[in-house]
Amino acid sequence: MCGIIGYTGSENVKEVLLDALELLEYRGYDSAGIAVMEENEIQVYKRAGRVKDLREKCAGKAENSVCGIGHTRWATHGGVNDTNAHPHQVGRVTLVHNGIIENYRELIADYDLKEKLQSETDSEVVAALLDRFYEGNPEETIKKTVSKLKGTFALVIMFADHAGVIYSTRNVSPIVATLCKEGAMLASDLTALCRFTNNYFVVPEYHILEMKEDSIKLTDFDGNEKEPEYLTADWELNSAGKNGYPFYMEKEIMEQPDAIERTIANRIVSGMPDFTAEGVPDSLFTECDRINIIACGTAMHAGLVAQALVKSILHMHIDVDMASEFMYSDPVIDEKTLVIAVSQSGETIDTLEAVKYARRRGAKCLSIINVKGSSIARESDYVLYTNAGPEIAVASTKAYTTQLSIFYLIVAKMAQLRGVYDTEQTQSFIRELQRTPEVMKKVLEKRRDIHVLANKVLSAKDLFMIGRGLDHSILLEGSLKLKEVSYIHSEAYASGELKHGPIALITQDTPVVASVTQEKLMSKELSNIKEVRSRGADIVLFIKESLAEDIDSQYQTFLLPDMRDEFMVMPASVALQLLAYYVSSDKGFDVDKPRNLAKVVTVE
Ligand code: AGP
Repeated sequence: MCGIIGYTGSENVKEVLLDALELLEYRGYDSAGIAVMEENEIQVYKRAGRVKDLREKCAGKAENSVCGIGHTRWATHGGVNDTNAHPHQVGRVTLVHNGIIENYRELIADYDLKEKLQSETDSEVVAALLDRFYEGNPEETIKKTVSKLKGTFALVIMFADHAGVIYSTRNVSPIVATLCKEGAMLASDLTALCRFTNNYFVVPEYHILEMKEDSIKLTDFDGNEKEPEYLTADWELNSAGKNGYPFYMEKEIMEQPDAIERTIANRIVSGMPDFTAEGVPDSLFTECDRINIIACGTAMHAGLVAQALVKSILHMHIDVDMASEFMYSDPVIDEKTLVIAVSQSGETIDTLEAVKYARRRGAKCLSIINVKGSSIARESDYVLYTNAGPEIAVASTKAYTTQLSIFYLIVAKMAQLRGVYDTEQTQSFIRELQRTPEVMKKVLEKRRDIHVLANKVLSAKDLFMIGRGLDHSILLEGSLKLKEVSYIHSEAYASGELKHGPIALITQDTPVVASVTQEKLMSKELSNIKEVRSRGADIVLFIKESLAEDIDSQYQTFLLPDMRDEFMVMPASVALQLLAYYVSSDKGFDVDKPRNLAKVVTVE
């Protein structure tokens, strides 16, 4: 999950690299480094810490470089220190790497590389092997080295005697590239490119990209030159900035009404769900006899909401699998299974490998993805893109609710096609979905009230979130948000389950966040809240406004604007995102870059 950048062109190379690394820092931020080429000398500047620390280290240096590469690290092999930071330089070779080389120890032994190595990383072994094989031809050296590697890699390489030239090759780990008026640039993802251009191409696996100031060359491993397949990102160039917010997470929470609007607008025709534009055939929804959702983290939580909708409305069999467990759980998958993969980045390797496995078993795969042209998108039979725009904060917010909005469209489409809903029922369901942006805005307008509630849990070490049915799914996501940005140990429980053990943990003043949005579950949920209250719990209650008569005044309560019960996840999620955000920001944390995390998980 590292951030990689390479640039050769007319701009100030060091500044381009450092600015790009700041945009990529959300991908990993244990350490950072750049390597710049001046005449035939490659200088490396790197250190543990953030890009701002690296900028200090480079002050006044590397002002005349003609090309360079850079890296922000999420440590996999080797601790967080200056030596293990990238770039790695061995002899005439300097490189940065994203991925995991599984056989690096064997390579050290087979090629007697130990003496050449300074760090504990697998990446430096690749540099040493390249240097070992290098006899003046970069392409041949890269091919020979790659043939020895097992694992995943995005490699960006400079050779000391090839001034102004950058090479790259990949397997699974992502690389996008472009040639624009400022020169040639490659990066781990679009956020670093969209400062210069919206036009980019994905470097195909097992190809070699050669970048010079005014040219790029793409060749396959048989030496055949290939034409890059350019794509256009539908992102506003400046949308990758904070636009005045202190953190990306707040900006992205606030953007959700517009993001939902953008995601559903072109998929509703005459009040009915319509995927014609994306070429998704109705048969995909009518010929399957089961659905299997595969995703990780927040994306998997979106799947849980979809599962509740599919069961309650379509009465279909549906599984939701954590992608990391999927292949090892003997899933029941065949050609009658519709697999739906959900991923903001489209690069989560657990999800990517699970999709490949499912398709090998004959399943059709529809993916819900935010990043165009990403690996999972390219691996799928059909893709429905969320139009959330770049999501920079590690904690996923607008990606989650736009994923949900696509699931609502899919459920409506399937209900209509399978005769569960007639036209009026389908249009009524869609109209409720179209209310989502205005309802979310009502929650955002009351965010100061949520900030007050955040202060009630600020000092908590442990915290419970309790609810039943859809409320439980809502709280699983709310709990993950709080965990990952505030480091409070928060657990979401189906509230009926508490009395089977976990209630033993409730003591005086234990903070308990409850969600009550489902009318049919309300009375039992309120009873469960009383059970924990009677044992001293401090209650923070998020409740649907129309259900909130006679609520115990001792509860700190936030009234959620009304929607049909099956849509209440939308306002509730925004409220819980804000709760997590305010707790983290009031604790003084770097909300966008929580410790140990990275935005894109490209290691299994
Ligand atoms: C969510 O806040 C986390 N950042 C994480 O759980 C994330 O949702 C998960 O890693 C999946 O990422 P993806 O959507 O890019 O596949």
